[in-house]
Amino acid sequence: MFERELAVTAAAMVAPGKGILAIDESSGTIKKRFDTIGIESNVETRRAYRDLLITADGIAQFVSGMILYDETIKQSAQSGTPFPAAMKKTGILTGIKVDAGSKALAGAPGEQVTEGLDGLRERLAEYKKLGASFAKWRAVINIGKDIPSQYCIDVNMHALARYAALCQEAGIVPIVEPEVIMDGAHTLERCFDVTEHTLHALFSQLYQQRVRAEHLVLKASMVISGKECAQQAGVQQVADATVQCLKRTVPAAVPGIVFLSGGQTDELATAHLNAMNANGAALSWPLSFSYGRALQAPALKAWKGQPASVSAAQKALFHRAKLNSAACFGRYKAEMEREAAAA
Ligand code: 13P
Repeated sequence: MFERELAVTAAAMVAPGKGILAIDESSGTIKKRFDTIGIESNVETRRAYRDLLITADGIAQFVSGMILYDETIKQSAQSGTPFPAAMKKTGILTGIKVDAGSKALAGAPGEQVTEGLDGLRERLAEYKKLGASFAKWRAVINIGKDIPSQYCIDVNMHALARYAALCQEAGIVPIVEPEVIMDGAHTLERCFDVTEHTLHALFSQLYQQRVRAEHLVLKASMVISGKECAQQAGVQQVADATVQCLKRTVPAAVPGIVFLSGGQTDELATAHLNAMNANGAALSWPLSFSYGRALQAPALKAWKGQPASVSAAQKALFHRAKLNSAACFGRYKAEMEREAAAA
C-alpha cells in the first residue's frame, strides 16, 4: 500500500537544491529560544512566529517541507488558512514531529530513550487527515565515559524502526533521526565510531522490522569534534569523515540524507554541507539540510516579537535557506554571507 505515494513524497523531500526546515520545537524548547530574544512564549506568539516562517516569500524555492509540532499543525496563518493548507498552496510539504521527547533511560545514567509509540498508529491517521505527508522521530545518543551503551543504542534504534514501520503503513514518509550529540570533549574519531555503530544498528533494525529503505529519509548528525574538545576538526575533515561514515552504513536505496545542525553555528553548518557536496565524488544519495537552529537563528534575532520586523525576519530566513541550497550543489562561498546585509 502507498508505495507510489511514499516514493513521490520522499523524492520531493530531497529534490535537488532543496532541504527541510525544522520548526517542530516542543513548547519547552521554543520557550528557551524565545527567552533568548526576551519574548513570552504563549499560543499566539508561537503561532505568529511559525506564521512568519511558513509564509516567508519565495521560501519554497529552497525548502521542500517543514516539520511542525502538534500545536502548529492545528493552527492557522494570519489569513485564516490552516498552516498545512497554506504550505500546500506554495508547494511545501507538511511534516510532523511525532515522538514525545527523550526521557532518562532506566538503569543507564546519562542516557536517554525517546518515547511516543503508544497510540502512534491513531495519531498518524489523524496527522494524515490534517495534511501531513512525512513525520520525524529523534533518538538521542550521548557520548561520554563508557557511553553510549549497547543497551541505549538497541532500545532507541528499535523504537525508531517501530515508528518508521507505522509511518509507512499509514502512507507517511518517516524521517529517521538518530542524533549523536555534540556536547562533550570527545574527538572527531570517537564521534565517527559512535555514529558508524549507531547507523549500523539503525539500518539493521529497519531491515528486521520490514521498513523499506526506499521510502524513508535519514536525518543524520555530522561527524564532528565534541564542543569541548581542545582539537576542533576543520571543515574538510568533518565533511570527509561524515561522507565516509555514511558510505559505510547507509544503503544506496535510501532516497536522501538531510543533516541536523545540532548546535553548530549557521555559517559552519552551511560550510560543512557545502564541503561534502563540493567533494566531486558521486554519492548514492543527495546530501541536504534539515536544520532547525542554523536556519532560524537569524530570523529569530531579526524578529524579536515585533510585528514591524516580520519582513526583515523573513528575509533573514530566505537568505539562510538560499545559502544552504547553494551548499547542496557545492556552490556556497563565504562571501555570500555578506549579500544579506547588502540586500
Ligand atoms: P537543529 O538543526 O537545531 O539541531 O534541529 C534539527 C532538528 O530537527 C532536531 O531534531
